[in-house]
Amino acid sequence: MLTKIFLFLLELSPVVKRTLWRWWYQFLANYYQQPDWRFMNYGFVPLEPNVSELKLAEEDENDRYFIQLYHYVATAVDLKGKQVLEVGSGRGGGAAYVARSLKPDRMTGIDFSDNNIQLSRKNYQLPNLFFQQGNAEFLPFDDEVFDIVLNVESSHCYGSMEDFVKEVNRVLKPGGIFSWADFRSVDEVVALQQIFEHSGLKQIKVNEITPNVLRALELMDESRQNFIQTNSPPFLKGALQEFAAVKDSKVYESFQTSEILYLSYVFEK
Ligand SMILES: C[S@@+](CC[C@H](N)C(=O)[O-])C[C@H]1O[C@@H](n2cnc3c(N)ncnc32)[C@H](O)[C@@H]1O
Repeated sequence: MLTKIFLFLLELSPVVKRTLWRWWYQFLANYYQQPDWRFMNYGFVPLEPNVSELKLAEEDENDRYFIQLYHYVATAVDLKGKQVLEVGSGRGGGAAYVARSLKPDRMTGIDFSDNNIQLSRKNYQLPNLFFQQGNAEFLPFDDEVFDIVLNVESSHCYGSMEDFVKEVNRVLKPGGIFSWADFRSVDEVVALQQIFEHSGLKQIKVNEITPNVLRALELMDESRQNFIQTNSPPFLKGALQEFAAVKDSKVYESFQTSEILYLSYVFEK
């Protein structure tokens, strides 16, 4: 039953979609408080030949594939000394990695779920890292205050992608960069491209990264299945398997058949 609800969530009307996703993430952050669950994305594996492996601190090795997705999105531009906003920072692991490794002057993570924000503040304390509750569609910031906005696998939850992109444009400084990655069903892609085209932002890079994400899902499958089996009550397992896109889930199969695509875009204001 919950599996069906998860799939259904991807296709709802804006208000219901926003409300139910918020409820889901509030629930997850409240139920699973373990600090070693740090990421909620599908991961990334570079597939070009001769790419040298990303060097990670020992404590980050377990989260390699999740971090590689962040690294891919966040290194679209040099973040050193910059004012960076991440919208949809989840449990905070990505913002903490970026703050620690890519050395922005100030890294701010916002998330709709205040439970996620509480977890993030508890687990990550760095001088250049800040978390606050906020909605992607009404960003709680003045105009033109950020050099870079990052958005990793969060925007499929928003009621209005159009409102989100307008808000990104508003809070970015002139010349600022918006680096985005997320999945969409294939029939949503044209509408998404139109939103981007009318955003007033200049598209400077676009990639389909479904194969990179599928490879990460494959490599992480055993550990994620084990986590779900060990840590979840029976009534939640089906929904979590879909949410995590484990092998044989509908979401995983839809990536394989290209019914769902994972995309990345970089824009300049
Ligand atoms: C799949 S998780 C990804 C989290 C994180 N980016 C990561 O990769 O680990 C999606 C996140 O987006 C957040 N989110 C959903 N709707 C939002 C909104 N309207 N405004 C801000 N955050 C939102 C959720 O609370 C959740 O933490």
